[in-house]
Amino acid sequence: MVKMPPEVKETLAKQKPIPIATATKDGTPNVVFVGLLKVLDDETLMLADNYFLKTAANLSENPRISILCYDSETKRSYQIKGSAKVYKTGPQFEEMRKWVHGTNPKLPAKAAVVVKVEAVYDSMWGPSAGKLIV
Ligand SMILES: Cc1cc2nc3c(=O)[nH]c(=O)nc-3n(C[C@H](O)[C@H](O)[C@H](O)COP(=O)(O)O)c2cc1C
Repeated sequence: MVKMPPEVKETLAKQKPIPIATATKDGTPNVVFVGLLKVLDDETLMLADNYFLKTAANLSENPRISILCYDSETKRSYQIKGSAKVYKTGPQFEEMRKWVHGTNPKLPAKAAVVVKVEAVYDSMWGPSAGKLIV
């Protein structure tokens, strides 16, 4: 597990929607936008599964996930890699439902996807592009 620096958390918090990538067990990639992503702590993110279809199928067989963010004001961009756990009951699920229904009570709020951050890379153009940050 790694700790996200403040600028990574700020960039994630500002961007909407955020692209997230998952893959099947045999590696077929899939990218979707999520509007509902929040930073739980320095090492952990939460996503809300409202409409995941292939994303949910992928996460059920392959926990690997990648998340991309960009802030055009600060000119910062980060690529995050991590492992996801899906919760359909329990405290994480209840926290997700409270959060999602606080934004829109009509959303299905099917599952909480909790991501443990394992690496953060610089994704901005320039000499540091692609390099590991933490
Ligand atoms: C702007 C935008 C925001 C979205 N936010 C979410 C979200 O927070 N949660 C969710 O489950 N789906 C969200 N979706 C829907 C997914 O992007 C996607 O359509 C859904 O996961 C089905 O695709 P899949 O079969 O590849 O999983 C959003 C779509 C858009 C265009």
